[in-house]
Amino acid sequence: MIINRPKGTVDITDRDAKIWKYVDMVIDSVMEKYNYNYIRTPIFENSEVFHRGIGETTDIVTKETYDFKDRGERSLTLRPEGTAGVVRSYIENKMYGTHNLPVKVYYNGTMYRYERPQLGRNRELTQYGVEVLGSKDPMIDAEVISMALNVNKALGLKGNKAHVNSLGDKESRDNYRKALKDYFRPHLDDLCDDCKARFEKNPLRIIDCKVDNNKDYFKKVPSILDYLNKESKEYFDKVCEYLDILKVDYVIDDKIVRGLDYYNHTVFEILADIPSFGNANTLGGGGRYDGLVSELGGPETSCVGYAVGIDRVVMALKEEKVDIPIKENVDAYILYVNEDEKKNAVYIADELRRAGYVVETDYNNKSLKAQFKRADYFGSSYLIILNSDDLNEGVVTIKNNKTKEEEKVEMEYLIYYFDEHIDDNFIDNDEDCNCSDCSCHNHEKEV
Ligand code: HAM
Repeated sequence: MIINRPKGTVDITDRDAKIWKYVDMVIDSVMEKYNYNYIRTPIFENSEVFHRGIGETTDIVTKETYDFKDRGERSLTLRPEGTAGVVRSYIENKMYGTHNLPVKVYYNGTMYRYERPQLGRNRELTQYGVEVLGSKDPMIDAEVISMALNVNKALGLKGNKAHVNSLGDKESRDNYRKALKDYFRPHLDDLCDDCKARFEKNPLRIIDCKVDNNKDYFKKVPSILDYLNKESKEYFDKVCEYLDILKVDYVIDDKIVRGLDYYNHTVFEILADIPSFGNANTLGGGGRYDGLVSELGGPETSCVGYAVGIDRVVMALKEEKVDIPIKENVDAYILYVNEDEKKNAVYIADELRRAGYVVETDYNNKSLKAQFKRADYFGSSYLIILNSDDLNEGVVTIKNNKTKEEEKVEMEYLIYYFDEHIDDNFIDNDEDCNCSDCSCHNHEKEV
């Protein structure tokens, strides 16, 4: 019997796998420019890291974590997100004492949430995210928002927008919570069961309830922005000022409250312009979390960050039919028949690969006809046809698969031949580039 993959997981193969690799490469290249260091933290952590970090009352912790006991009876949790693990690592490795603050890191890896699988929502998901630990400057809030959009732009996505809001400081949020409870109290019986529970524990989360939010009385919900105290308002104004300097495409959206408890002040989401995606239109989100480091036992540290769902970014790239500069074809296919020719095929393939060319050959002792077919399957630009007579004279036959022209090339000049004839077809010219700025991989390689 066939064993299927677990519900809510995906196999990423073939062309899709190439798109994923390309996305990773663009992320790495943009991160490098902003001087963010790559960080790898464990895929599982002691459960407390997430339960305490994300908040015991959040949907993620109450309904979605993969919690388990290992054989030593330790309570562990598969990471549902990257922030809490990075904060744990920052504290455990005493980065606040050994690094020049702020620490700027990024990660890229799988996360696990027990959610109902649907478009753009899986149980194993991949996020890349950035965290800045040790700065409370509105400039950095603006920088990370701008960076999130710049990565998407560099990938070729169009029409992404940041929806930005402020949850203010504790005083502002306490006042707002009270106002929200006063507002929703008369409607309490009408709210969904989740929102009834949120009413006491976390009334802010009622605002983005997917069940209730089209009800009439949701249209007049008080705005958090009217409850920000002076300092919080000034902070938010500054963030917006820097966003303007960075020419970030953003709107102020007082409905953004986020699903994790650790946020204060700036919160934001990155939205694609693809209405058919529904909720999966939210490609990423993040914000400031000044209390999390101390909550997890470290010193008071102001932080900000975001994460983007790569599954959704890949979906968006495909939906928007973005022309992705991935190599679709092999440079050369080596054909041979007998053992002597095969030994030469092994040697030539190795030489050309080490010179940087993509080379394919036959591994199943197939007929010449089948080998020609296989060469076509891989869209090989050139065929290297080996035969013993040629090899005795130190030459090979090369066929241009497009023009069908053939010529004999001396073995020792083979690499020079390819240097002369193969363009770097990964990048052609400016017209092939989708990006609207010059931080993309294409341009990077050209300059
Ligand atoms: P989040 O909003 O929970 O934030 O997740 C960020 C992104 O991950 C979402 O916008 C979405 O694209 C993707 N995502 C979340 N759940 C799923 C899922 N089940 N399937 C596919 N994609 C999903 C965080 O995780 C925070 N740690 C972000 C952050 C970093 N805040 C500060 N620093």
